[in-house]
Amino acid sequence: MKLLVFAGSTRQNSWNRKLAKVVASLGQSAGAQVTHLELSDFDVPMYNADLESGGTPADVMRLKQIGYEHPAWIICTPEYNAGYPALLKNMLDWISSPVKADLLWRDDLRSTRGKVVGVLSASPGALGGQRAQSHLVPLLLNLQCWVAPKNYALGRAGEAFEADGQLASPVAKANIQAVIEQVLWAAERLH
Ligand SMILES: Cc1cc2nc3c(=O)[nH]c(=O)nc-3n(C[C@H](O)[C@H](O)[C@H](O)COP(=O)(O)O)c2cc1C
Repeated sequence: MKLLVFAGSTRQNSWNRKLAKVVASLGQSAGAQVTHLELSDFDVPMYNADLESGGTPADVMRLKQIGYEHPAWIICTPEYNAGYPALLKNMLDWISSPVKADLLWRDDLRSTRGKVVGVLSASPGALGGQRAQSHLVPLLLNLQCWVAPKNYALGRAGEAFEADGQLASPVAKANIQAVIEQVLWAAERLH
């Protein structure tokens, strides 16, 4: 199963990027073929339909294609003001905007429809970004994703990782593994 993993942060010491790294490694151990994306590797401007009318940026097309090729996704979202960050919204808006002149990509949901998506979050706060998840899930449903019922919010992220990037808590690790396994289980059945 092809599993796409990415975090909604480009911050150098991001907890969600650390979490995505853990997920990528656990996903590989679970037998998935993992693609671990860093959104900082993509040049994606703030969405603007006027800009888009001159042509969809090449890196947006790359993201659309990568999304399309992966039946299973796991997103690690930060929480900003009880929501998810603009970075993530902007990426998801771009990849769900149709490319009208393109026979394949005029289908706005080609890269997201039917994806099985696991949602995780990490935050220095006690709630671990759970409120960001509660906003992200309806957006994913709007993109016709199947959101995994299991989720996990990693609270007190500042104390959650060892120096080598491993999770300190076996309970946190088990919860994250459970999300990965459920996503892979469902993606195997749907695809
Ligand atoms: C504008 C702003 C709003 C924030 N709001 C919240 C919040 O509502 N809840 C929360 O747990 N953390 C909040 N934080 C703290 C973030 O969780 C923290 O900066 C975190 O490290 C961001 O994720 P990252 O480490 O993956 O980059 C906020 C941070 C910023 C910059």
